[in-house]
Amino acid sequence: MYLTREQQADYKRQGFLIVESFVDAGACDRLRVRAEALVHEFDPAEAISIFSTREQSRRADDYFLGSGDKIRFFFEENAFLPNGSLRHSKNRSINKIGHALHDLDPVFDKFSRTPELKQLSADLGIEQPLLLQSMYIFKQPKIGGEVTCHQDSTFIYTEPMSIAGLWFALEDATVENGCLWAIPGGHEIGLKSRWQRSQDGMHFEVFDSTPWPEERLVPLEVRKGTLILLSGLLPHKSLENKSAKSRHAYTLHMIGGNSDYPADNWLQRSTAMPLRGFE
Ligand code: FE2
Repeated sequence: MYLTREQQADYKRQGFLIVESFVDAGACDRLRVRAEALVHEFDPAEAISIFSTREQSRRADDYFLGSGDKIRFFFEENAFLPNGSLRHSKNRSINKIGHALHDLDPVFDKFSRTPELKQLSADLGIEQPLLLQSMYIFKQPKIGGEVTCHQDSTFIYTEPMSIAGLWFALEDATVENGCLWAIPGGHEIGLKSRWQRSQDGMHFEVFDSTPWPEERLVPLEVRKGTLILLSGLLPHKSLENKSAKSRHAYTLHMIGGNSDYPADNWLQRSTAMPLRGFE
């Protein structure tokens, strides 16, 4: 076992678990260097045309909805000037890269598939784990946007519920630079909504419209190299980064291979690229 029985019990009780020093500083830095190289190689012209034309909303949705088996780049909300050009340099404008880094890029593949992670998925009771999605999140200094309170299972739904999020701090994450906030025990609230594909695009099916008990949110300030495990049902958020420090993080989401993955989840992959586990 990688996790102690106490850690496993904590995860069940709180809906999250903080594992300090899970990856060493060198591994964090290698991922960061690779993400910066990907951004350097990325030609923003295509994406800029998508995000800044009159048809912006539909084309931006298609770019996002087709990214489940690709490496695509998403801009901060306020990255563009009214004339469609970038307000800041390219590498200061990217919000995140997603969603198949772990399958398409060798450096991310190596980081995402380790014996420790495989053991950890077993310790969490996830049977035949499959790596569904990966995101590199920049949380840029000064302009890194807020992520409002949500449950990951709203966006990645399985029956039975079998999702775990792995959130790796590649730099120190503090209240100042926009660390995660979570509601301890909030996974007991149950799933409040689902984001589903339908004939007219995406829509939210709402099961419970009461507001989040945000007064129960606590900041998860962690050091570089820490892994935060998040149950798919745990309500969490992060605030804007108004500081001068970036807050890079890498996230992976795994699902149980025995659970049903609905065809109306947003993330769908080509049959040529089936999901893989830790092998
Ligand atoms: Fe999330």
